[in-house]
Amino acid sequence: MTDQNAAKRAVAYAAADLVQDGMRLGLGSGSTFLFVLERLAQRMKSEKLRIAGVPTSGGTAAAAQKHGIPLLSMVEVDWLDMAIDGADEIDPNKNMIKGGGAALTREKIVAAAAREMVVIVDESKFVPVLGEKFRLPVEVLTFGWRQTERAIADTGCAPSLRRTASDDPLITDNGNYVLDCKFDGITDPKRLHDQLNAIPGVLDNGLFVGMAGRVIVGSPDGRVRVLP
Ligand code: 5RP
Repeated sequence: MTDQNAAKRAVAYAAADLVQDGMRLGLGSGSTFLFVLERLAQRMKSEKLRIAGVPTSGGTAAAAQKHGIPLLSMVEVDWLDMAIDGADEIDPNKNMIKGGGAALTREKIVAAAAREMVVIVDESKFVPVLGEKFRLPVEVLTFGWRQTERAIADTGCAPSLRRTASDDPLITDNGNYVLDCKFDGITDPKRLHDQLNAIPGVLDNGLFVGMAGRVIVGSPDGRVRVLP
């Protein structure tokens, strides 16, 4: 296992160990989150832990099913005890960019329904300012996407349509496109979040502002620290 995977597994296991019997969970997406499923499945066997979770992507739903983790849909729940999810970038105020896996809209709905969003990251995800390196994903309707793209560009970025390995436009689980937007740093994430979401055709953007609860950070040597 690489050092980065060791860090991912360590933070994922630490988050999964916060889960208590009977909890209803938001199940995040991404390579770090997959280790959470592994640990939850272990605890279901060894401790008879009873849980159920709402998956934030088709990929997570399939992986959870493989591990025998019971799934719920959003319409079956009023709220969730805890959401656990990764991030692409996180700043000193615990604001984040998410959506590297194109699941940002469902991830945000699920996190907003949870009493706490526990974030799991390795040290490499920490940045002083969001958006200097990682391009901000924005989910847009396919109808009129070029007009939406132009309006997004007017907020001060260079958007590009996300494509699959076979060069087709990537279609999200919601049937939409993702525009990856290059900013030269996002100094006011809340303002940009609201500005982008006011553009016709934008479903949501990957800025998660003021949503993170505890942040579990992993080092390559497998040590973890928790930011309250
Ligand atoms: C998916 C996400 C992921 O949480 C984010 O991309 C982090 O993924 P990874 O753990 O693979 O680095 O937002 O939409």
